[in-house]
Amino acid sequence: MTTSADTISQQVSAELHGSVTIIVLGASGDLAKKKTYPALFSLYQKGYLPDDTHIIGYARTKMTIEAYHDRITHFIKIKDETTKQQLDKFKSMTTYQSGQYDQDESWQTLDTTIHQSEEQRGISPGKRNRVFYMALPPSLFVPVAKGLKKNVYAKEGLTRLVVEKPFGMDTESSNQLARELNALYSEKEIYRIDHYLGKEMVKNVMMVRFANIFFNQIWDRKYIDNVQVTFKERVGTEGRGGYFDDFGIVRDVMQNHLLQVLSLIAMERPISTDAEAIRDEKVKVLKCIPPIVLEDTLLGQYVGANGKPGYLEDDTLKNKQSKTPTFAAMTCWVQNERWEGVPFIMKAGKALDDAKVEVRVQFRNVAGSLYKGSPRNELVLRVQPQEAVYVKFNNKQPGLSYQTIQSDLDLSYHDRYKDLDIPDAYESLLLDLLRGDHSNFVRKDELEAAWKIFTPVLHEIDRQGANIDIKTYPYGSRGPEELTSFVRKYGYDRSDANYDWPIQSLSSSGNQ
Ligand code: BG6
Repeated sequence: MTTSADTISQQVSAELHGSVTIIVLGASGDLAKKKTYPALFSLYQKGYLPDDTHIIGYARTKMTIEAYHDRITHFIKIKDETTKQQLDKFKSMTTYQSGQYDQDESWQTLDTTIHQSEEQRGISPGKRNRVFYMALPPSLFVPVAKGLKKNVYAKEGLTRLVVEKPFGMDTESSNQLARELNALYSEKEIYRIDHYLGKEMVKNVMMVRFANIFFNQIWDRKYIDNVQVTFKERVGTEGRGGYFDDFGIVRDVMQNHLLQVLSLIAMERPISTDAEAIRDEKVKVLKCIPPIVLEDTLLGQYVGANGKPGYLEDDTLKNKQSKTPTFAAMTCWVQNERWEGVPFIMKAGKALDDAKVEVRVQFRNVAGSLYKGSPRNELVLRVQPQEAVYVKFNNKQPGLSYQTIQSDLDLSYHDRYKDLDIPDAYESLLLDLLRGDHSNFVRKDELEAAWKIFTPVLHEIDRQGANIDIKTYPYGSRGPEELTSFVRKYGYDRSDANYDWPIQSLSSSGNQ
């Protein structure tokens, strides 16, 4: 499957017939400022926004157009004179309107503005497409979706509604939200963002698996011993504890981002690369995963260390006795022919010793090996930072020695690809939206299947409240010290003590 820049532009034209009005709801907020507008600008720079796009920011805050432009361009880096000129043009395409989220009159004013703009731009009926991007807190999802449907819905073109997590707190609340949104908009109109699906390496998983015969053939329980999906952040929840405390790390990143990655790793080959074919397979594999149990779970919360505050010391935290996990390791099992018995371990934590996201597929030992004790092969997909795909494999130590040494077949993007320009996840997803490709957005049934895996254990954790077993770990550490035995329990073998990445010294190596 190859998709050139021209093909992408053609797909955008086919979907939108050359015109769109993008309405960013919550335009004064952080998500809009940090992600939505920089992504839109980048798409504009690359020529992927239809020529006469109009972007309208909408929020309650009253702001002058200058203040709005300053705000939305705050995170855009101006490299040179060309970028500056492009930015001026981009600003001229963007306007702002303040209004309420719960009043028909405000929505009707917005509708009038859009309509006038469509007329002025000479967009013919049938091509008057409207994209509503909800960069809003979850309490506003339904009221805003209702107000838009009633008053601002595109009557002469396509309507698209973009919404981002949190999608509820458990299966029931998520289903409730889905019911309310789906009563207003068709599934085709809704684009649920999980921004991990827009990351370069996550988009690459299918290619690695299905375009390479050597991975494809060994991708099962016979050859793979265990799989880990790891998310580590150095920062704690400083300043965001108030929000985070209602969710915890499992709802914040594991039930969505990590599980999405896992489903791409574990799913069967889709019948095609069509969005629904891919999402069908993701749903199928999620349905093969029974709910995670507490026995397969390790929870942690960070405490102050090295001059950094503990989770409970966060000023924004209301409950100073909170037992909300900031770290979790959870193992799930895919009960199908391909994966039975293979543990899939998800690990996520804040305030850790490193910042990285990766998938680590550990293969089984070589049966009857001539080189006993050689470490296992691993395939690592490093999602961030610095995208890389590498395979840890055993090699003869160069020189007169006959020792084996673990090295790697390394595809580090920055070394390998010239003029590398990896788009931000939001840019990539917004482009998918403009070309009408749902593959990297979460379907309703997928969301439900994902929640079913986590809801029982989350309810159990909530039910146990203050009695829940939660380990502490120092800010800036690897996580709770029980982590090593936790992953070992599932067979993860860490016998590569002499392995350094990326440059290896030969003086200290050696496995006989
Ligand atoms: C968000 C979580 O969804 O993802 C944050 O709410 C987390 O807590 C973030 O920090 C991580 O995203 P990224 O793209 O920085 O890895």
